Amino acid sequence: MKKGFVLLALIFCAGLLFAGGQKTTAGEVEVLHWWTSGGEAASVAVLKELLEAEGHRWKDFAVAGGGGDQAMTVLRSRAVAGNPPTAAQVKGPQIQDWAEEGLLTNLDDVAKAENWDNLIPKVIADIMKYQGHYVAVPVNVHRINWMWVNPTVFEKAGADIPKTWAEAEVAAKKIKAAGMIPVAWTGQPWAEITVFETIVAGVGGTDFYKKTMVQANPADINSPTMVKCLETLKRMKQYTDPGAPGRDWNLATAMVIRGEAGMQFMGDWAKGEFIAAGKKPDVDYIAVAAPETSKQFLFNVDSFIMFEVKDKAAKEAQKAMARLILEPKFQEVFNVNKGSIPVRMGMPETPFDIPARLSMKDFVASAKSGDLVPSMAHEMATSRAIRGAFMDTVAAFYNSDMSAQDAAAQMAKAVQSAK
Ligand code: GAL
Repeated sequence: MKKGFVLLALIFCAGLLFAGGQKTTAGEVEVLHWWTSGGEAASVAVLKELLEAEGHRWKDFAVAGGGGDQAMTVLRSRAVAGNPPTAAQVKGPQIQDWAEEGLLTNLDDVAKAENWDNLIPKVIADIMKYQGHYVAVPVNVHRINWMWVNPTVFEKAGADIPKTWAEAEVAAKKIKAAGMIPVAWTGQPWAEITVFETIVAGVGGTDFYKKTMVQANPADINSPTMVKCLETLKRMKQYTDPGAPGRDWNLATAMVIRGEAGMQFMGDWAKGEFIAAGKKPDVDYIAVAAPETSKQFLFNVDSFIMFEVKDKAAKEAQKAMARLILEPKFQEVFNVNKGSIPVRMGMPETPFDIPARLSMKDFVASAKSGDLVPSMAHEMATSRAIRGAFMDTVAAFYNSDMSAQDAAAQMAKAVQSAK
């Protein structure tokens, strides 16, 4: 009897707790995402817990594969079959594509009640809106142009942390001579364009980055500057190991963590792996801007879209998920673990580590100087088709003996026909 009463009381209290005291119906959200590495899984678990604490159910639909290409293929096929999940991790211009198809739930009521317009930067809010209405909710801000360094490897090799790509080669040669792997490489197309766009920003500069990676202007793509960028990318290949083709990004990070490799060029989700392994910044690893990009910030905003559903309880669960994502608690715990910085403005810096604080500072500074640019590789800048054209040419160039001149010409052509 007593037990039964306690249970009833608990259920009742839980009912009152969520949605500011209003009673809601428990529903289920099926969430498609690609957060499957150690750091990523730990981060997304926070959202699941918060949602479940409000009485809703989280049905996990994780599709492994860094950068989300596999996840997007699965999402497309489920939508075509008329069976999309209720929520999905989708970014950048693709949000507009999904909204245009009329498949998304309007999130304006949550946004209004929670004051989203005043909580997230306008540039980001605009990406989340379709024809002025919220159809997606942003999670974080990732920075792409990072370099992750194992200081012990560098010390053993007598190498200095590079600020330029030429210096990166000098360091890489020393690490190689000392019998270690200089660069932990992920031989997957999305990861290769991640390094490639970082080189384009550094070697070519912000204007060149915008003309090529954002505006996809063929005349700028087929240029001596692009040839230089491609050559820089290709030169790094000699400092990678034979296990690079096909390797997952988190396994490459693990090589730096274990001291097998000296450095990795990867976005700050890599930091999530260092955190999950209990490593401390400036002690066990050093995070600095990738060569020649200290003033630039290539950004990537993870976000969720919600598909239109009929079931009332599922609708409530979707709304609860959208609300929770921008609440301070989730913004803090998730981003501390994930390696990103909060997308919600005005969050205290105190819980965040050294690289995150650097990221926060550089985000503001780059926005002022015009060096805050969307990532092409991570789907923030162009259509999928144009990104695909970049990705295919870079992969073909990196994995063959094609000349950089031919690759630049081919890239311009491929991008033109993807327009
Ligand atoms: C990015 C995504 C990050 C991280 C990374 C590796 O595209 O924005 O959150 O998951 O891929 O999978």
